[in-house]
Amino acid sequence: MKVLVLCVILLQGSQHVSAVELYEGDSVLLPCDFYTFELDDPTVVWSREDLRPSTVHQRQLEGDELTEQNQAYRGRTSMNADALDSGDLTLNLTNLQLSDSGSYTCTVRDLRMGQRRVGDVQLQVKERFPTWARVLLVLLVLLVLVVSGGLLFHFRHYFMSVPQVEVDSGVESVKLPCKSTADLPVDAKVEWTDSRDRTVHVYENGSDQPADQDQVYRNRTKMKKNLLRTGDLSLTLRHPTWRDTYTCTVYKKEGDILMEKQVELRVRVPQVEVDSGVESVQLPCKSTADLLVDAKVEWRDRRRQDGPRV
Ligand SMILES: *[C@@H]1O[C@H](CO)[C@@H](O)[C@H](O)[C@H]1NC(C)=O
Repeated sequence: MKVLVLCVILLQGSQHVSAVELYEGDSVLLPCDFYTFELDDPTVVWSREDLRPSTVHQRQLEGDELTEQNQAYRGRTSMNADALDSGDLTLNLTNLQLSDSGSYTCTVRDLRMGQRRVGDVQLQVKERFPTWARVLLVLLVLLVLVVSGGLLFHFRHYFMSVPQVEVDSGVESVKLPCKSTADLPVDAKVEWTDSRDRTVHVYENGSDQPADQDQVYRNRTKMKKNLLRTGDLSLTLRHPTWRDTYTCTVYKKEGDILMEKQVELRVRVPQVEVDSGVESVQLPCKSTADLLVDAKVEWRDRRRQDGPRV
């Protein structure tokens, strides 16, 4: 509640004019002093001559008399309880509105001297946040939202629980990380599966169980020695060719799941770009493994997994 009194000009006698500048929602004390002690049944009226009814607040010996109060000021005005005894006729106006701007007149009347205009106060209520400031604020908030949203999207992998591993296609092998948080019992079973629920690798009873794995992964997987002791359940996968999400699960002997973690593997596919209408294009493919004599080589497009053979 900051009251900025711009100027106080004392005019002749006790009458004075002052100006007060405030913001919406503030409260203000409009000053007025008059020696009312010797008056006969005095009445104090705060008014705005530009309003109908003009009464903002009225005080008599019996107390506040608000039947003629302008409804715009209802419940927002008060004066000291002992105003007429002390002569401090200050008006307390709360929850200021823009429409409260105007000239307030403090008038005292009594049976002997009649009516006397004691003081005028100019009140200027300003918007706390002018329109341009609101627009600017909205734009700033939007900008912050868009930028932080973009950053979040860009760095989403850091916030998401599924870690990602990205490799170039054709690499010899990739390590899919999986660390156990728990102390693993010696009879725990560790299983890696892919998103199609195919078994990638099984470690049980203290050794790898190649018989349990899907043939797609035959001879392509390896786990560390002493993995139950070290808790390092990472899987080394040879010749990663497609993107997939792998799940590393640890079971207790009874089959309850002790831990489950996922890793997303992304394989960067090489791009070959040609102009339309060229005679031919070469799609590169180099095997890193020694191929067996009876190996079969097959090219497919990926519109369908089991699509037409090329
Ligand atoms: C003005 O009136 C309000 C509401 O009655 C009150 O909370 C506030 O303390 C008053 N201000 C002063 C300076 O008396």
